[in-house]
Amino acid sequence: MKGVVFREFIDMVESSFSPEIADSIIELSDLSTGGAYTSVGTYDHREIIQLVSRLSERTGIAVPDLLRAFGNHLLGRFAALYPSHFIGRNSTFDFLSILDNKIHVEVKKLYPDAELPVFDHSSPDPNVMAFVYRSKRPFADLAEGLIRGCIAYFNENIDMQREDYPCEEGAHTRFMLRKMVNV
Ligand code: HEM
Repeated sequence: MKGVVFREFIDMVESSFSPEIADSIIELSDLSTGGAYTSVGTYDHREIIQLVSRLSERTGIAVPDLLRAFGNHLLGRFAALYPSHFIGRNSTFDFLSILDNKIHVEVKKLYPDAELPVFDHSSPDPNVMAFVYRSKRPFADLAEGLIRGCIAYFNENIDMQREDYPCEEGAHTRFMLRKMVNV
């Protein structure tokens, strides 16, 4: 997992909880770098799972809730860090439809060792999108948070239903997004 994700996570813990809590979860985790992540470095994704688990123990907030909150926050940070991906995009469906074959492709060019998930999308009707996430890593809650962050970014009213499929390793999840049209 790229260091940029770790740094954003630690920054969020410092600002949403406190710098002391950030220090204590770093200390209680077994981290290769002792918590000093560089944005371009690559670190074992299990380190972020450890940090989130320690934060959950410390705050009493469940791990999936913390990952969703982090995803939501991270989308806003991506918008600030990589604005070019957002220029000309006017909706969640528009943005998500280019995530796999444009945005994450650019991310891969920038960071050739990035370990990215795979997404499929289809729209059986213009108000509905089925968005399927597959990864060797268990980050469906993070994906849900990132999608919620997109919906907030584009200020839309979209209902999301989620279905997790059994898989041996990582995650396979379908998100059904439905625009709530005012009648
Ligand atoms: C401008 C927008 C985005 C940028 C720049 C971006 C970039 C990145 C980067 C740098 C990583 C880390 C790769 C690594 O760990 O090696 C990542 C991972 C990930 N991205 Fe994106 N991303 C964007 C939008 C999204 C959105 C909207 C989703 C929604 C589902 C998403 C889903 C994920 C997930 C779930 C991961 C964790 C890795 C995994 O699941 O295996 N990303 N992304």
